Amino acid sequence: MLWSRKPVSIGLIGCGAMGEIHAHAIARHGGARLRCVFDPDRARAADLVRKHHGVRLAESLENVLADRDVEAVLIATPHNLHKPQTLAALQAGKHVLVEKPTALNHADACEMTEAARRYGLRLLVGQVMRFWPNVARAREAIAAGRIGEVRQVIRRRMMRQKDAGRAWAYDRKQAGGWIIQGNACHEVDAVLYMLDGQVARVEALATRNNPKWNDIDELAVLLALESGAICSLSQSLNCWPDGIDTVIIGTDATITLSEVRRGFAIDTDTTILGASDGFGEQIHDFVAAVREGTPSRIDAGNILETMRTLDRISEQLAEPEPCTQRAVHALA
Ligand SMILES: NC(=O)c1ccc[n+]([C@@H]2O[C@H](COP(=O)([O-])OP(=O)(O)OC[C@H]3O[C@@H](n4cnc5c(N)ncnc54)[C@H](O)[C@@H]3O)[C@@H](O)[C@H]2O)c1
Repeated sequence: MLWSRKPVSIGLIGCGAMGEIHAHAIARHGGARLRCVFDPDRARAADLVRKHHGVRLAESLENVLADRDVEAVLIATPHNLHKPQTLAALQAGKHVLVEKPTALNHADACEMTEAARRYGLRLLVGQVMRFWPNVARAREAIAAGRIGEVRQVIRRRMMRQKDAGRAWAYDRKQAGGWIIQGNACHEVDAVLYMLDGQVARVEALATRNNPKWNDIDELAVLLALESGAICSLSQSLNCWPDGIDTVIIGTDATITLSEVRRGFAIDTDTTILGASDGFGEQIHDFVAAVREGTPSRIDAGNILETMRTLDRISEQLAEPEPCTQRAVHALA
């Protein structure tokens, strides 16, 4: 992406799957420069340094934060580290883009948002679906009144994920529950963003099936929004084929979204929007926020309703018993 201002110099914390994707997104953006990377898994960090010319291998988070050339940090680490690492970075005077979820709960997300405000720094959260063309277009259409008043949203995220490929994802202390903090975090956020919604009431049911997850892997959530719209969100880690689809029923028309075909339709008028570069757009928002002070759709304050709703889903599943424990059936 073309950019005439001085590039924003970024320190990357966490060089796993997402760290690598973000490093490439930074490299593609003319307004950002990857200055240094840190990961306690030195082989991973060294691998990124090898792939990106001129990047320094830092030996600790403190070392990244002490680097005067680093203006901003991108945090792509396990969920329980998001809060302490974000607060440390803000305290060191760095702007932050932290991966989703903002934190393990709403109270921590509020504390982080307040800290950024107090220090006069930007804190953005990697809720990348807000940049997905279907999601962005649905939000615009709804805001423009093209489907009238929204009555109901039905969204399904179907995946056949046998394992996470990351040991920390199975540990509730680190991940906070993969299907809620890892996945529902995207789904709830996408729906609330499309509808610009506030949640009045939450109901949730879940079951555990694949023992590997040490957690729920089937989730059904009902949301009643302040606007009067109702939403049902279903998520499965045991479904074949993969896909995310959505129906948004309005008084005048219905929107259907398919993330498999990347199709956007109002009633029968379908547009295929093509693949998005959500991570690139996210970096662009971050660069514009840091350099120009531009408001962002992923400012941490805009994500608080999502975090509050995730807390309410977790509370529902905790009482009176954690969730239904099914007889284990092998998925291998
Ligand atoms: N936006 C998306 O679509 C999307 C997709 C997958 C994951 N994520 C999010 O990205 C984040 C990272 O997930 P991932 O898939 O890259 O996991 P990962 O396990 O592949 O990478 C995490 C990395 O963090 C490193 N790490 C652990 N402790 C650290 C510390 N103290 N300091 C610095 N690094 C440390 C690990 O060594 C590992 O390399 C999570 O918040 C996850 O939810 C987002």
